This record gives sequence, structure tokens and C-alpha cells, in this order.
Amino acid sequence: MGARTSTLNAKEDADRVYHRKRCVVRSAVHSENTSFLSARIQHFIDSGTLDQRRDDMRAKTAVVLGAQWGDEGKGKIVDVLSERFSAVARYAGGHNAGHTVIIGGQKFILQLIPCGVLRPTCKGIIGNGVVLDPIAFLKEVAKLRGLGVAVDAQLFVSNRAQVILPYHRMIELAAESAPGRKKIGTTSRGIGPAYEDKMARSGLRVVDLLRPELLKTHIEAACAEKNAIVKALFGTGTAPLDPARMFDEYAAAAEEVRPFVTDTGRVLNKILAAGGSVMFEGAQGTMLDIDHGTYPFVTSSSATAGGAATGTGVGPTAIGTVISVTKAYVTRVGEGPFPTEIKGAAGEELRARGNEYGAVTGRPRRCGWLDIPLLRYSNQVNGAEWLVVTKLDVLDTLAEIPICVGYEIDGKVTDEIPADVEGLEQVKPRYTTLKGWQEPTEGITEFEKLPRAAKEYLRFQERESGARIGMVSTGPDRDQTMVLDDFAAALDTIHA
Ligand code: GDP
Ligand code: IMO
Ligand code: MG
Repeated sequence: MGARTSTLNAKEDADRVYHRKRCVVRSAVHSENTSFLSARIQHFIDSGTLDQRRDDMRAKTAVVLGAQWGDEGKGKIVDVLSERFSAVARYAGGHNAGHTVIIGGQKFILQLIPCGVLRPTCKGIIGNGVVLDPIAFLKEVAKLRGLGVAVDAQLFVSNRAQVILPYHRMIELAAESAPGRKKIGTTSRGIGPAYEDKMARSGLRVVDLLRPELLKTHIEAACAEKNAIVKALFGTGTAPLDPARMFDEYAAAAEEVRPFVTDTGRVLNKILAAGGSVMFEGAQGTMLDIDHGTYPFVTSSSATAGGAATGTGVGPTAIGTVISVTKAYVTRVGEGPFPTEIKGAAGEELRARGNEYGAVTGRPRRCGWLDIPLLRYSNQVNGAEWLVVTKLDVLDTLAEIPICVGYEIDGKVTDEIPADVEGLEQVKPRYTTLKGWQEPTEGITEFEKLPRAAKEYLRFQERESGARIGMVSTGPDRDQTMVLDDFAAALDTIHA
């Protein structure tokens, strides 16, 4: 046997050294000793080659998601950031989402279609993790076409996405109003039952929607089953579904959907392989995630960062920056625990100032104070490095602003988030109060121009939540946004 070589070639050798260094940095990050940490990181940065650092930043991707219970302003932020991305991909949810974008006063509300399509150079991808209602999709396409958006050239729908059919809505309506069932306060779009069918392996995928014979037998079998379920479980209140009519309607819709359908995982991976950049547009929010949210008062998909990989077919090693969007306060629509909810006049004032009504359903949103334990939890679940704070301007009139900094449960202080609903309902939030600024911040685009107390509020949020603030939104319009320097530099790296 000849002498063993330690590596096959110099590149592998360099890679090995590089990975050892990364381990050093990782262990430093876990260390409590921050001076040790910065010294080791500095050493690493100084000794790494440019190529190696580029490797580290390999992922030309960013996930933009909601830190709370949805409606954080993801649509606005995705729109602002999409300027330089090659594609924006939705990875979860369906037309339960309502993402508002305002450009020079013109308002767009997107439900299924990624906000990136509002930029002519950006592709919009509806990933395999989405549940697609073909009729809702076509309505949204028609609306965007009417507004002059080139959806036909820019938009792609995954052949592996699941299809929402009318019986999903029927089951949901019956379940939500059935005596003895826990009412979730859903958006009534059939989202939950469509995901149920997906997991039960009895759903219909877009690729099969396009095969009339298969569609016909699927609809016939499903209608027989769902009609029987509704009758047996929920009584006969709902009119039974007519499979022949349903088939005619959906077979016609399928032909209109067909030109958009492709293997979107392939499209995204090709974009990345060619050096392009991809943004993943989250829907809903971390606390509505099926695993990590306030179950069962959640939606039925993976709204958190992990969903970006499973919901698009881009591998987890290609997922880079995670950007978490948080309101300067908190809102929630529908039922479920909400520790910092403000009851009474103060909550109503915040709702009025923030115009907190659902973009899709028009339902009033419940309002509450910023919840730091929840934000930390959300950052942990998502691995979020960056925060984007929206709706700072909504707090402009307040003399004092409470922030929840800890939870008290049975007289004990904790920042652990109870997994059970009863536990979360029993939480007594512990507040600290910061001074308000009582000056208008609307439209301010430079951090230095913010009132001192507003800067303090943001600094406090950053310090306590453990993620860095990269952007602040001071109004609903695309232009009412500030991008902080280090975040701008991180974006430059993605687009390098
Ligand atoms: P999404 O679901 O996360 O995209 O959020 P929605 O669009 O459902 O709700 C956010 C609402 O806040 C929309 O009406 C936005 O136009 C609005 N909005 C976003 N950012 C700001 C901001 O900084 N200030 C104010 N006043 N409104 C904002
Ligand atoms: P965007 O993307 C706020 C809530 C519903 C309900 C629960 C389950 O605009 O932030 P579902 O219809 O999904 O089965 O409802 O989830 N919900 C949202 N709340 N924003 C959303 O989306 C939401 N999508 C679902 O109100 O409480
Ligand atoms: Mg919304």
C-alpha cells in the first residue's frame, strides 16, 4: 500500500481548513464570552479568502416571513426587496393570505400570486407547498392583467401544488359551525381541508388537474365521500355537491391554468445555478405555523423558514438569509390565545390608527403590545438574523408604549412559550414601558431623522429580540421605507 495522502487535492485541503474554521466560529458563537467571540470571528474573517467567504454566503436567497400571527406587512417588504431578485416564490398557504402593496398610491392586494410579479424583471413562482384554488387564481391573474402586470410572461405554477376544490370549503364551513367543534375563525377558503387531503394522500395535484379523465374520476369519488361526511358528521344543512357541474367548471379552468404550470423546483434551481437570486415570500406568520404556532389556532401549513425548502423544492443548503417581518406592535385575526392583547379603548385606537382590518376578509384585527418572548421564539424557530419593523408610524401619538419583556406563569417568571393553549391563556405578561415620541414618523426614510424615543424603541426591540433590525417601515407606500447600512450591505452580497 502506498503512502496515504491527507486529501485528494489542494482545493479539498483548503475546504477542510475552512470548515475547521467555521467550527471554531460556531463554538465561539455558543460561548458566553463575547470578547472571545469577536476575536475569533475577526481572526476567521481575516484569514479567509474572498472565495471562501463567498462560499459561505453561497445562498443567493432570502426568506421573508411573518414573525407573529400574519399581516405584518410582508407584502410591502417583499415588494421593496424584490427590485433586485430574479424570482419571488410563495412556499405555503393559499388565498387565505392577503398581501398589500402600495406603489405611488396605487394599491394591489395579492393573495396567491407572489408580490415579485409587480416588478417586470422578476419571475413569480407558486411553489409545491401552496394550495391553489384555480378559480381564485384565475380571478387574481385577470385582475393583474387588467392593471397592466405581465403575469403571463412572469408567472409559474408548480405542477406539484395541491388543488382546492369546492368540497374543501364545504367541509370547512360545516366544521367551523358544528356544535362541539373548536372554532378556529378561519378565512373560509378551504385551506385546512385541502391540506388534510394532501396529508391523507387523497388530494389532487395541479399536474392531475390538467388530465380531464383523472379529474373526472377524482371529483366523482371525492364528492361522494365528502357529501357523506358532511351529512354524517354535520347534519344535512349544506346542499350536496354536484360532481358533473364541478367537473365542467374545473376542467375549463384547468385549460386556463395550463400555460402557467411547470416544474417550478427545476425553474428555481436553474435560476440559482445560473447565479440568479431567489426570495421566498412567506404567508401567514410564525405563530400560525402548523407545528410552531398556537395550535390548534393556526393555519394548516409551514409558514416558518423551514417551509421554504419543502414548499419549493430548493434544498435547505441553498436557503440563505432569513428576514423576519414584525409589526412595531402585534395583531391577530381569528380565535386563539394572544398574551399581550389590548382590550377596550386603547386597542380600538391602535386598530383605527393602524387600519387593522383584514386585507381579504375585512375582519377587525385584534391588537396588542409588542411581545419580546414571542419575538425571540420566532427568531429561534426561523433562524432569523434580520428583523424588519413595520408600522412604526402607527405608534406616533402614544405618550408611553408598553412592551412585554417576560411571562409570568403561576407566579414564576419565564420567557418560555407554553405549548398548550391553556398555558398561553394563563400567561401574565410583564411589561416595561418606554417613552413615546409623539411626533410624526410617517414617511421618514433615514434612521437619524427619527425622533430620539423612536430610535430607542427600535434599539430596545433589537437588543431584546436578538436579531438585527435591517429595515423600518414608516408608512404603507413602497417609498416609506428605510434600509439600514449593514442590511444594505448584506443585500449587496446576495446580489453580488
Ligand atoms: P401581509 O399579509 O403581511 O402582507 O400584511 P397585510 O397587507 O395583510 O397588512 C399590512 C397592512 O399594513 C397593509 O394595509 C399595508 O398597506 C399596511 N402597512 C404596511 N407597512 C406599513 C407601515 O409601515 N405603516 C402603515 N401605517 N401601514 C403599513
Ligand atoms: P397573511 O399572509 C392573518 C388565520 C385565520 C385563522 C387561522 C386559520 O396575509 O399574513 P385558515 O383560513 O388559514 O385555515 O385560517 O389563520 N390566517 C391569517 N391571519 N394573515 C394571514 O395571512 C392569515 N392566513 C390565515 O384568520 O385565524
Ligand atoms: Mg395579510
